[in-house]
Amino acid sequence: QTVPVILCGGSGTRLWPRSRKSRPKPFLPLVGEDTLFRATVLRCPPADGFGDPVVVTGAAHLGHVEEQLPDVAHSRIIVEPEARNTAAAIALAALTLPEDAVMLVCPSDHHIGDCDAFRAAAHEAATLARAGWLVSFGIVPTAPETGFGYLKRGLVIEGSGGRQVERFVEKPDLARAMEFLTSGEYAWNGGIFAFQVGTFLEELGRHRPQILAAVREAVDKGTADGMRFHPDGAAFAKVPSESVDYAVMENTDRAAMVPATMAWSDIGNWQALHEAQDRDEAGNAVHGRAELKDCSNVLVMSDGPRVSVVGASNLVIVVDGDEVLVCTPEGAQAVGKLSGAANQ
Ligand code: GDD
Ligand code: MG
Repeated sequence: QTVPVILCGGSGTRLWPRSRKSRPKPFLPLVGEDTLFRATVLRCPPADGFGDPVVVTGAAHLGHVEEQLPDVAHSRIIVEPEARNTAAAIALAALTLPEDAVMLVCPSDHHIGDCDAFRAAAHEAATLARAGWLVSFGIVPTAPETGFGYLKRGLVIEGSGGRQVERFVEKPDLARAMEFLTSGEYAWNGGIFAFQVGTFLEELGRHRPQILAAVREAVDKGTADGMRFHPDGAAFAKVPSESVDYAVMENTDRAAMVPATMAWSDIGNWQALHEAQDRDEAGNAVHGRAELKDCSNVLVMSDGPRVSVVGASNLVIVVDGDEVLVCTPEGAQAVGKLSGAANQ
């Protein structure tokens, strides 16, 4: 069985003011009716051959997780004493699962348009993981994004739809991202992974023995409390903070990828969110009370006041409580740098 491991960590300051420290991105209904977190859990149902999910999250998010988990009785929650990045978060889940289990590691803050295509790719990835590969989802790149990992397509793995990853480059600078994009030889790393527990721990131990040792100690000294598990705080504080991309994926020679053709967005900023959702013919989308006249490609989201816009194009307007944000597509990436977002 494939066990969904759901990572719930980041804060998403670029979606301020909707996303706030007290109510971060995964727990908001941003695209569609469900929150991104609920949609992530619901994408991997038992009926499709998935096991009970394991959620790895921080104490600050525990309330949201427990409130929103679709089926709390069958899920397990690992509560991190503090955030030590994704290599540690995945290792926590791995060390509480059987060696031969396959983990499907899912970020909780992505939008995926086509669930059937996602599940088909997930099962393909799980098959490769069982054969000893550390599997990424390869997304067709559309821009020289510097916030993503890049996968260089390698040899086809016989009898599967997957390929070896010849090279994994996490967050290249713009020049290299541009080079990768134009070469046509690279895919984006979708941030979703399939790992067999034993293989993952072996590779983590090979490339980052300190992370493995410290997480192991935190798990050995941890305490269970119903469906929750609390790793030991003192031991976990010693874990080096590094993402799985740098710690394992860039270094392993067992990296593989499955092509993922589904609509995928990491909803990294307001413009990405605007593009991921349903819009009218003019490219507008409205949530809450608003009136648009002669507008194109305008997103309005208001939780209260009515917003009226006339003759505007390419604009995002978000009203949330006592905050109003107006930004252009070009400005969307810098929202997190506004003092409102930084000091929320
Ligand atoms: N539990 C837990 N603890 N979760 C965490 C932690 C942590 O310490 N740190 C991050 N996460 C969660 C985030 O909430 C998110 O769901 C996921 O792990 C990935 O972390 P991000 O911080 O969003 O990573 P990224 O977007 O910079 O890069 C990753 O995703 C890209 C695709 O969106 C990489 O895997 C890239 O290679 C990839 O292209
Ligand atoms: Mg991300």
